[in-house]
Amino acid sequence: MDKDLRPNIFQDIAEFWTFQLNNEIYLRNYPHVIRGSREYFDIILEARRKFIYYFPAIMKYLKTGLSPNLLEVGCGMGTDALMFAKEGFKVTGLDITPAHLVLAEKLFSLYNARGTFIEGNAENLSFPDNTFDCVYSFGVLHHTPDTGKAINEIHRVLIPKGRAVIMLYHKWSLNNFVHWILQRGFENAREGPDSPVTYRFSRQEVRKMCAAFTSCRIGIEYLFGAGWGKVYELIPKAIYFFLSKKMGWHLVLYLEK
Ligand SMILES: C[S@@+](CC[C@H](N)C(=O)[O-])C[C@H]1O[C@@H](n2cnc3c(N)ncnc32)[C@H](O)[C@@H]1O
Repeated sequence: MDKDLRPNIFQDIAEFWTFQLNNEIYLRNYPHVIRGSREYFDIILEARRKFIYYFPAIMKYLKTGLSPNLLEVGCGMGTDALMFAKEGFKVTGLDITPAHLVLAEKLFSLYNARGTFIEGNAENLSFPDNTFDCVYSFGVLHHTPDTGKAINEIHRVLIPKGRAVIMLYHKWSLNNFVHWILQRGFENAREGPDSPVTYRFSRQEVRKMCAAFTSCRIGIEYLFGAGWGKVYELIPKAIYFFLSKKMGWHLVLYLEK
C-alpha cells in the first residue's frame, strides 16, 4: 500500500472529520436532533449497539484487570470510550480532530463518566514507552497515511503483555467490491468529498504490520452497515452473520505485546 505523502495531509484529515462528524449517518432519519444533545447521543449509542454487534467480544478481550488503563486512538466523539469508562476502565481518548473531542467531552459530561481527552496524532503518540495496559482503535488507522507507523506506536506505548484491539477495513470484502463497482466513496455520507485517506487491507498485509506483537488473531466481521439502508433490514440475520465471517468489511485485530 503506497503511503499518502501529500503536504498538510494531517490538517486535511482533521478538516475532513470536522465536516463529516463520524456517526452522524445514524441521524439521517432525525434531521431535527440538535448536535451534542442527550437525544443525539442516545440515538448514536443505540445504533452502535445494533451495528457494532461484536463490541462485547472486544470488551471481554481488553478487560484483563480491575481498572485497566486504556488509550483509545482516534476516539472520535467518544462513544466506545464511554462504554469502557462504564466498565471501569481508566480512559484516555486521543484524536486529531478537535471537533470530535469537544463532542466526546460533552458525551462524558451528559452521562456522568470520567475520561481524559487530548488532541494528538496516532503516528506520533505523546506518551512514554510502556504506559497503557490496553489500547483500542476502531476505524481509524486506515485513515492515516502511515498505518504501520501508527501500529508500531501502539505497540510502543503498551506495557509488556498489554493488549490491543484495532479495527481496519478489509480489502477482500463484499462492501469494498460493491463500492468499487459503484465507484462510491466510503466516508462521504453527506455527499461531499471523501476522506483524504482510506486504505483497505488484506489479512496478510495486516500480519506484516503487526509483526512486533507476540500474538495477532484476526477476526472478520460486519458484512455491511447503516449505509446499506433497507438491504440491511431485509437480509436474514443468520445469513448476515454467516457472510460477515467470510467477507465482512471489518478486520478486527486482537493483539498482545
Ligand atoms: C471513522 S472515525 C472513527 C472514530 C471512532 N473511533 C468511532 O468509531 O466513532 C475516524 C477518526 O480517526 C481520526 N483520525 C484520523 N487520522 C488520525 C490520526 N493520524 N491521529 C489521530 N486521529 C486520527 C479522525 O479524526 C476521526 O475521529
